[in-house]
Amino acid sequence: MNIVVIVPAAGSGSRFGGQIPKQFLPLAGKPVLQHVVERFLSEEWVSRVIVPVSQDMLASMSRSSGENVVWVAGGETRQQSVIRGLAEAGDAELIAVHDAARPLISAQVFRSVVEAARATGAALPVLPVADTIHVMNDDWTIAKTLDRSRLGAAQTPQCFRADLLREILDRAVREGIDGTDEAGLAVRFGHRVQAVPGDPRNIKITLPEDLEVAESYLRQWGPRS
Ligand code: CTP
Ligand code: MG
Repeated sequence: MNIVVIVPAAGSGSRFGGQIPKQFLPLAGKPVLQHVVERFLSEEWVSRVIVPVSQDMLASMSRSSGENVVWVAGGETRQQSVIRGLAEAGDAELIAVHDAARPLISAQVFRSVVEAARATGAALPVLPVADTIHVMNDDWTIAKTLDRSRLGAAQTPQCFRADLLREILDRAVREGIDGTDEAGLAVRFGHRVQAVPGDPRNIKITLPEDLEVAESYLRQWGPRS
Protein backbone atom coordinates (compact mmCIF):
# COMPACT_ATOMS: atom_id res chain seq x y z
CA MET A 1 0.00 0.00 0.00
CA ASN A 2 1.19 3.53 -0.73
CA ILE A 3 -0.17 6.10 1.70
CA VAL A 4 0.84 9.73 1.88
CA VAL A 5 0.05 11.57 5.11
CA ILE A 6 -0.57 15.33 5.10
CA VAL A 7 -0.02 16.96 8.49
CA PRO A 8 -1.34 20.53 8.37
CA ALA A 9 0.88 22.52 10.76
CA ALA A 10 0.50 26.10 9.55
CA GLY A 11 -1.92 27.29 12.24
CA SER A 12 -1.10 30.01 14.75
CA GLY A 13 -2.80 28.38 17.74
CA SER A 14 -4.84 31.45 18.65
CA ARG A 15 -6.93 29.65 21.29
CA PHE A 16 -3.78 28.25 22.90
CA GLY A 17 -2.07 31.67 22.90
CA GLY A 18 1.63 32.46 23.33
CA GLN A 19 4.39 33.36 20.87
CA ILE A 20 5.18 29.89 19.56
CA PRO A 21 2.37 27.96 17.82
CA LYS A 22 1.32 24.92 19.89
CA GLN A 23 2.57 22.34 17.36
CA PHE A 24 6.17 23.53 17.91
CA LEU A 25 6.05 23.48 21.73
CA PRO A 26 7.97 20.75 23.57
CA LEU A 27 6.07 17.68 24.71
CA ALA A 28 8.03 15.03 26.65
CA GLY A 29 11.31 16.34 25.24
CA LYS A 30 10.51 17.09 21.59
CA PRO A 31 8.14 19.31 19.61
CA VAL A 32 4.54 18.14 19.30
CA LEU A 33 4.91 18.08 15.50
CA GLN A 34 7.97 15.83 15.70
CA HIS A 35 5.98 13.22 17.66
CA VAL A 36 3.39 13.23 14.87
CA VAL A 37 5.86 13.01 11.98
CA GLU A 38 7.89 10.23 13.61
CA ARG A 39 4.79 8.21 14.41
CA PHE A 40 3.70 8.17 10.76
CA LEU A 41 7.21 7.55 9.41
CA SER A 42 7.35 4.42 11.55
CA GLU A 43 4.30 2.98 9.73
CA GLU A 44 5.33 0.70 6.88
CA TRP A 45 2.34 1.74 4.72
CA VAL A 46 3.40 5.39 4.77
CA SER A 47 5.67 6.43 1.90
CA ARG A 48 5.82 10.14 2.64
CA VAL A 49 4.72 12.74 5.18
CA ILE A 50 3.91 16.19 3.81
CA VAL A 51 3.88 19.06 6.30
CA PRO A 52 2.41 22.44 5.40
CA VAL A 53 3.90 25.07 7.74
CA SER A 54 3.73 28.85 7.81
CA GLN A 55 6.00 30.68 5.40
CA ASP A 56 8.29 31.93 8.19
CA MET A 57 8.84 28.38 9.53
CA LEU A 58 9.48 26.89 6.11
CA ALA A 59 13.19 27.70 5.74
CA SER A 60 14.22 26.32 9.12
CA MET A 61 12.07 23.20 8.83
CA SER A 62 13.30 22.29 5.34
CA ARG A 63 16.87 22.23 6.62
CA SER A 64 16.07 19.61 9.25
CA SER A 65 14.14 17.39 6.88
CA GLY A 66 14.59 13.64 6.27
CA GLU A 67 14.09 12.16 2.83
CA ASN A 68 10.49 11.04 3.41
CA VAL A 69 9.32 14.36 4.87
CA VAL A 70 8.29 17.18 2.55
CA TRP A 71 7.76 20.70 3.91
CA VAL A 72 5.50 23.07 2.00
CA ALA A 73 4.04 26.51 2.64
CA GLY A 74 0.59 26.27 4.24
CA GLY A 75 -2.37 28.56 3.61
CA GLU A 76 -4.69 30.91 5.44
CA THR A 77 -7.00 28.14 6.68
CA ARG A 78 -6.54 24.49 7.54
CA GLN A 79 -8.29 23.50 4.33
CA GLN A 80 -5.98 25.68 2.24
CA SER A 81 -2.97 24.15 3.99
CA VAL A 82 -4.25 20.66 3.15
CA ILE A 83 -4.72 21.70 -0.49
CA ARG A 84 -1.11 22.94 -0.64
CA GLY A 85 0.02 19.62 0.78
CA LEU A 86 -2.10 17.64 -1.65
CA ALA A 87 -0.25 19.20 -4.57
CA GLU A 88 2.85 17.25 -3.42
CA ALA A 89 1.09 13.91 -2.89
CA GLY A 90 2.10 12.36 -6.23
CA ASP A 91 0.47 9.06 -7.13
CA ALA A 92 -0.44 7.88 -3.64
CA GLU A 93 -3.30 5.38 -3.53
CA LEU A 94 -4.64 6.71 -0.23
CA ILE A 95 -4.11 10.04 1.48
CA ALA A 96 -4.51 10.57 5.21
CA VAL A 97 -4.83 14.01 6.78
CA HIS A 98 -3.82 14.39 10.42
CA ASP A 99 -3.75 17.50 12.63
CA ALA A 100 -0.26 18.49 13.76
CA ALA A 101 -1.80 19.23 17.15
CA ARG A 102 -2.77 15.55 17.80
CA PRO A 103 0.43 13.83 18.95
CA LEU A 104 -1.28 10.79 20.48
CA ILE A 105 -2.31 8.87 17.42
CA SER A 106 -2.14 5.12 17.93
CA ALA A 107 -1.15 2.59 15.29
CA GLN A 108 -4.46 0.85 15.89
CA VAL A 109 -6.59 3.88 15.04
CA PHE A 110 -4.42 4.66 12.01
CA ARG A 111 -4.68 1.14 10.65
CA SER A 112 -8.43 0.86 11.15
CA VAL A 113 -9.02 4.19 9.40
CA VAL A 114 -6.80 3.16 6.51
CA GLU A 115 -8.52 -0.20 6.11
CA ALA A 116 -11.96 1.40 6.20
CA ALA A 117 -10.90 4.01 3.62
CA ARG A 118 -9.49 1.33 1.37
CA ALA A 119 -12.80 -0.51 1.49
CA THR A 120 -15.17 2.46 1.25
CA GLY A 121 -13.23 5.48 -0.07
CA ALA A 122 -13.43 7.74 2.99
CA ALA A 123 -13.08 7.12 6.72
CA LEU A 124 -12.36 8.89 9.99
CA PRO A 125 -12.09 8.10 13.70
CA VAL A 126 -15.04 9.29 15.76
CA LEU A 127 -15.55 9.45 19.49
CA PRO A 128 -19.09 9.21 20.88
CA VAL A 129 -19.85 12.47 22.65
CA ALA A 130 -19.99 12.25 26.45
CA ASP A 131 -21.53 15.64 27.16
CA THR A 132 -25.01 16.72 26.15
CA ILE A 133 -24.65 19.22 23.29
CA HIS A 134 -26.94 22.27 23.09
CA VAL A 135 -27.21 24.65 20.15
CA MET A 136 -26.82 28.15 21.59
CA ASN A 137 -28.28 31.51 20.67
CA ASP A 138 -26.10 34.63 20.51
CA ASP A 139 -27.28 35.67 23.98
CA TRP A 140 -26.28 32.29 25.47
CA THR A 141 -29.81 31.03 25.85
CA ILE A 142 -30.27 27.48 24.56
CA ALA A 143 -31.93 27.17 21.17
CA LYS A 144 -32.22 23.39 21.11
CA THR A 145 -30.74 20.18 22.43
CA LEU A 146 -29.27 17.52 20.14
CA ASP A 147 -29.83 13.80 20.49
CA ARG A 148 -26.57 12.77 22.14
CA SER A 149 -26.88 9.13 21.15
CA ARG A 150 -26.28 10.08 17.51
CA LEU A 151 -23.41 12.53 18.03
CA GLY A 152 -19.78 11.75 17.29
CA ALA A 153 -16.75 14.01 17.66
CA ALA A 154 -14.45 13.89 14.62
CA GLN A 155 -10.80 13.03 15.12
CA THR A 156 -7.94 12.58 12.68
CA PRO A 157 -6.32 10.88 10.77
CA GLN A 158 -9.03 11.05 8.15
CA CYS A 159 -8.21 8.86 5.18
CA PHE A 160 -9.44 8.98 1.58
CA ARG A 161 -8.85 7.43 -1.77
CA ALA A 162 -6.65 10.03 -3.44
CA ASP A 163 -9.03 10.77 -6.32
CA LEU A 164 -11.92 11.32 -3.91
CA LEU A 165 -9.93 13.76 -1.74
CA ARG A 166 -8.86 15.72 -4.82
CA GLU A 167 -12.45 15.84 -6.07
CA ILE A 168 -13.95 17.13 -2.81
CA LEU A 169 -11.25 19.75 -2.25
CA ASP A 170 -11.54 20.99 -5.86
CA ARG A 171 -15.30 21.23 -5.44
CA ALA A 172 -15.00 23.04 -2.11
CA VAL A 173 -12.74 25.65 -3.75
CA ARG A 174 -15.13 26.04 -6.69
CA GLU A 175 -18.10 26.50 -4.35
CA GLY A 176 -16.27 28.77 -1.89
CA ILE A 177 -16.65 26.37 1.05
CA ASP A 178 -14.03 26.25 3.79
CA GLY A 179 -14.62 23.22 6.00
CA THR A 180 -13.02 22.33 9.32
CA ASP A 181 -12.38 18.77 8.16
CA GLU A 182 -12.35 16.75 4.97
CA ALA A 183 -14.90 14.18 6.13
CA GLY A 184 -17.46 16.96 6.53
CA LEU A 185 -16.84 18.09 2.96
CA ALA A 186 -17.19 14.55 1.66
CA VAL A 187 -20.53 14.12 3.42
CA ARG A 188 -21.71 17.49 2.19
CA PHE A 189 -20.96 16.44 -1.39
CA GLY A 190 -22.89 13.21 -1.04
CA HIS A 191 -20.11 10.68 -0.46
CA ARG A 192 -20.38 7.81 1.96
CA VAL A 193 -17.99 8.33 4.87
CA GLN A 194 -17.26 5.48 7.26
CA ALA A 195 -16.59 6.19 10.94
CA VAL A 196 -14.37 3.87 13.00
CA PRO A 197 -13.92 4.04 16.78
CA GLY A 198 -11.59 6.87 17.80
CA ASP A 199 -9.38 6.96 20.87
CA PRO A 200 -10.16 9.24 23.83
CA ARG A 201 -6.41 9.88 24.17
CA ASN A 202 -6.17 11.19 20.60
CA ILE A 203 -6.89 14.73 21.79
CA LYS A 204 -6.25 17.87 19.77
CA ILE A 205 -4.06 20.23 21.76
CA THR A 206 -6.18 23.37 21.76
CA LEU A 207 -5.68 25.02 25.17
CA PRO A 208 -2.57 25.06 27.43
CA GLU A 209 -4.05 22.48 29.81
CA ASP A 210 -4.32 19.99 26.91
CA LEU A 211 -0.52 19.91 26.73
CA GLU A 212 -0.37 18.68 30.33
CA VAL A 213 -2.96 16.01 29.59
CA ALA A 214 -1.03 14.91 26.50
CA GLU A 215 2.18 14.73 28.55
CA SER A 216 0.55 12.44 31.08
CA TYR A 217 -0.97 10.21 28.37
CA LEU A 218 2.43 9.94 26.69
CA ARG A 219 4.03 8.84 29.96
CA GLN A 220 1.53 5.95 30.12
CA TRP A 221 1.76 5.20 26.39
CA GLY A 222 4.11 2.22 26.60
CA PRO A 223 3.75 -0.73 24.25
CA ARG A 224 0.18 0.00 23.10
CA SER A 225 1.49 2.29 20.36
N1 CTP B 1 -3.76 24.56 10.43
C1 CTP B 1 -3.04 24.79 9.24
N2 CTP B 1 -3.19 25.97 8.56
C2 CTP B 1 -4.02 26.92 9.01
C3 CTP B 1 -4.78 26.71 10.21
C4 CTP B 1 -4.63 25.51 10.89
O1 CTP B 1 -2.27 23.93 8.83
N3 CTP B 1 -4.10 28.06 8.33
C5 CTP B 1 -3.54 23.32 11.18
C6 CTP B 1 -3.08 23.57 12.61
O2 CTP B 1 -1.68 23.85 12.64
C7 CTP B 1 -3.48 22.30 13.32
C8 CTP B 1 -4.69 21.80 12.51
O3 CTP B 1 -4.73 22.59 11.32
O4 CTP B 1 -2.49 21.30 13.27
C9 CTP B 1 -5.97 21.88 13.32
O5 CTP B 1 -6.28 23.25 13.55
P1 CTP B 1 -6.48 23.93 14.99
O6 CTP B 1 -6.36 22.94 16.06
O7 CTP B 1 -7.69 24.79 14.87
O8 CTP B 1 -5.14 24.82 15.08
P2 CTP B 1 -4.99 26.40 14.95
O9 CTP B 1 -5.83 26.89 13.84
O10 CTP B 1 -3.53 26.67 14.90
O11 CTP B 1 -5.55 26.88 16.36
P3 CTP B 1 -6.68 28.00 16.62
O12 CTP B 1 -7.90 27.57 15.85
O13 CTP B 1 -6.85 27.99 18.10
O14 CTP B 1 -6.10 29.29 16.10
MG1 MG C 1 -8.02 26.68 13.90
